[in-house]
Amino acid sequence: MSLPRKMKAHARKHAEATEPHPEAARRQAAQGKLLARERITAILDPDSFHEYDLFVEHKCSDFGMEKKQLPGDGVITGTGTILGHPVAIYAQDFTVAGGSLGLAHARKITKIMDHAIKLGIPLIGINDSGGARIQEGVNSLAGYGEIFYRNTLASGVIPQISIILGPCAGGAVYSPALTDFVFVVDKISKMFITGPEVIKTVLGEEISMEDLGGARVQAELSGNAHFYAQSEAECFEQVKRLVTFIPWNNRKRADPFAAQPPEAGALERIIPSESNRPYDVRDVLRSVCDGADFMEVQALWAANIVVGFARMNGRTVGMVANQPMVLAGVLDVDSSDKAARFIRFCDAFNIPLVTFVDLPGYLPGVDQEHAGVIRHGAKLLYAYSEATVPKITVILRKAYGGGYIAMCSRHLGADFVFAWPCAEIAVMGPEGAANIIFKGEIAAAADPEAFRREKVKEYTDKFASPYVAAANGHVDAVIAPHQTRDFLLHALEISEHKTEERPARKHGVPPF
Ligand code: HXC
Repeated sequence: MSLPRKMKAHARKHAEATEPHPEAARRQAAQGKLLARERITAILDPDSFHEYDLFVEHKCSDFGMEKKQLPGDGVITGTGTILGHPVAIYAQDFTVAGGSLGLAHARKITKIMDHAIKLGIPLIGINDSGGARIQEGVNSLAGYGEIFYRNTLASGVIPQISIILGPCAGGAVYSPALTDFVFVVDKISKMFITGPEVIKTVLGEEISMEDLGGARVQAELSGNAHFYAQSEAECFEQVKRLVTFIPWNNRKRADPFAAQPPEAGALERIIPSESNRPYDVRDVLRSVCDGADFMEVQALWAANIVVGFARMNGRTVGMVANQPMVLAGVLDVDSSDKAARFIRFCDAFNIPLVTFVDLPGYLPGVDQEHAGVIRHGAKLLYAYSEATVPKITVILRKAYGGGYIAMCSRHLGADFVFAWPCAEIAVMGPEGAANIIFKGEIAAAADPEAFRREKVKEYTDKFASPYVAAANGHVDAVIAPHQTRDFLLHALEISEHKTEERPARKHGVPPF
């Protein structure tokens, strides 16, 4: 056959493999879902997608599969760019056997994962699948196992992003759970280990798929998702924005941007003068970072701590801050987990950490104790202590007890600790402290309440300030709020080439 005829035959074969089945495409659209190819096109830069393994075929001959032709075996894989950043990408195609995962489908995914690891580029996976391809039996399970294995090998080497745009059920959910960031879309994403039918049969409980594992549930209740969007288009914009903040791999720094001034506004006015009045700590973060551009991670879950990416003088930093607006910013099981994971991501990918402290301590209570606040809280201590990236801490207001230590204190290896003049650094708040230290005297006093107030004031004057910590060198400088950006920029600049050696080991054993 001549080349022109071969090219014509190729074009026909290509069209057959890429044109969606009309009825399946109609069903996808009726659910408000884009097709897998449309999703890839929407995320990547125009014309940057290069597809591989389009003609891969399954080898299954059970349950009538020998007669089934599954274009691309239900998954599209390739490489491309996002705003000029190279990425490897795969998208499960629900219009082909429900995006179900057989061995060939899995091997396409593991092949693109291997490329991503070797090339040192981020991996983006779009999940929309009925799970293990039932006809392929154990081969499907093998495929999942091979994906999980690579997710683990890639962890801390390349950023891994999962976008859930359809069902992601059974053991399939463990691939996204092993990745760094999970994106979900309202009414479209569904994640669960066992679905409503199984739950009804086994436990007699009735629940809709949406209430069990919909996007809102995963973003707000379980903490499985990191970013929540109302539509696929909004989700893709979030993915693109995230990619600009993170490096291609663990050997690189995130690409620098042009430095921008922060949001105009007086930091002095953000924090109320009464130390128990709440405020939104995100106003502080936006007032010190470039262009007020703060990308919050897990904004809807464990909102008593705020984590996310920003830039200082054009370079990415990871910001961690107690949120006085929610539960007074206490640390608890979920907020410790949330911050610890974010800190470990930043440390793995050379992103300096800037921590803002304002918390009364760890949340007391039977629920928290029984939920393992000891074990979960320890994750935060571990993550900060383990991190060797530049670590800079600003104590805004309260820093009491274990919370003071846990929020990247000097004692956990902070390189620089700054405190505002309104900082209160002590074992506990003045009320609690006076009540304990002077319990006997208060009870014996002629006017116990007046005596108690006097002792609260005495404790406040002595310890509810940054100066005892500064006198002991635990705080490097007491700074006015308007000096914060200047001190942070300088500290980041001089920490640019920080190195910190640790004793050799295979790996640590962090509290889980
Ligand atoms: C083979 C599957 C499939 C699967 C869907 N299909 N899931 N084929 N294996 N797992 C096929 C359907 O047969 C159908 O093919 C097409 O995909 C579309 O499916 P529908 O059911 O028509 O779509 P919809 O009504 O939207 O329902 C979607 C669904 C449902 C909720 C996902 O398909 C479903 O419940 N599927 C099975 C889910 C499941 O139990 N998976 C195994 C989980 S266990 P045709 O030819 O009719 O178009 C698992 C273990 C992993 O995953 C362990 C890893 C460690």
